[in-house]
Amino acid sequence: MTDTPTSMQISSHSPVLASSLNGPRQHLLDVDDLSDAELSRLYERAIDLQRRMWAGLSLGARGPLHGQVVATLFFEASTRTRLSFELAAQRLGALTMPLEVSRSSLEKSESLFDTLQTLAAMGATIAVVRHSDNGVFSPHLAGAGISLLNAGNGTAAHPTQALLDAYTLMQHLGTLRDRVIVINGDIRHSRVARSNLRLLSRLGARVIFSGPPDLLPDAKSWASLADQNEPPRMLALDDAIEQADVIMCLRIQHERHHVVSPALSNREHTDFLSAYGLTEERFARAKPTCLILHPGPVNRDVEIASALAEHPRSLILEQVRNGLFIRMATLEWVAGVLP
Ligand code: CP
Repeated sequence: MTDTPTSMQISSHSPVLASSLNGPRQHLLDVDDLSDAELSRLYERAIDLQRRMWAGLSLGARGPLHGQVVATLFFEASTRTRLSFELAAQRLGALTMPLEVSRSSLEKSESLFDTLQTLAAMGATIAVVRHSDNGVFSPHLAGAGISLLNAGNGTAAHPTQALLDAYTLMQHLGTLRDRVIVINGDIRHSRVARSNLRLLSRLGARVIFSGPPDLLPDAKSWASLADQNEPPRMLALDDAIEQADVIMCLRIQHERHHVVSPALSNREHTDFLSAYGLTEERFARAKPTCLILHPGPVNRDVEIASALAEHPRSLILEQVRNGLFIRMATLEWVAGVLP
């Protein structure tokens, strides 16, 4: 055809559209997708972004992701991850396209693959996806022509949470080598615990899991996640607390109990705080430098005493703040523009 309208020729050769439809794309599904060198670059970039934003410095006239469209698809509830990804994309100069899942054509049985292809056809280059299914990122999704960024899938992985947790700790502790990090609570159903075990052990920390016995994982099945290739240690919080440099509290993830362990679905945790949680009495036995983390959302007086959420050594809101810089850097990484 020789008389194609000029506007059609221009749009079909738009660099952004072309890159969304063709060529290999980078995906971040868990922390292992980053090499050691990429991990270092990502953290250097997060420090740089934090410094620039605090100093009111520009990220360039148009921003590193100018011209890109970032879609967000949240099949599960979220406050921190969804909003910080949307803000991160906007700070980098991208347009955001939040898909309201319950009002989308996914409700009319459109597949996730077809939905992603549809978003890519509109020019979206990155899809940030949260889903309840551990297997949601099946290999064929890579053919949808859009970069996938995991915002938490089932009990499997939550890479940006682990990245921001380690970033927050390194700002306070410097190196994490040989630091003892106790992760306490519902480990068995936690994607945060899984991604953190991978990353923290890779950074040289010694991870201990604690919590109610029926909410702890099968140690052997988790051994391969740890860099040392040995099962994570499991101790009662009362036995672990004095050696902890950090205590990370996790909430009971009721929404996943019926899927993973039906026997637990109706379990009441009325005395959880006194039996297993981080009480003020327990925290008083920790080192005077011991830090508190919690990925949120916090259920006060269940996994952590309410007063400890506000403790001077609680980093809960710093984790939220740092999530913005980490998500900016991960968006740059999947877009292939991380400096
Ligand atoms: N930590 C975390 O993933 O929080 P949201 O569920 O609010 O995103």
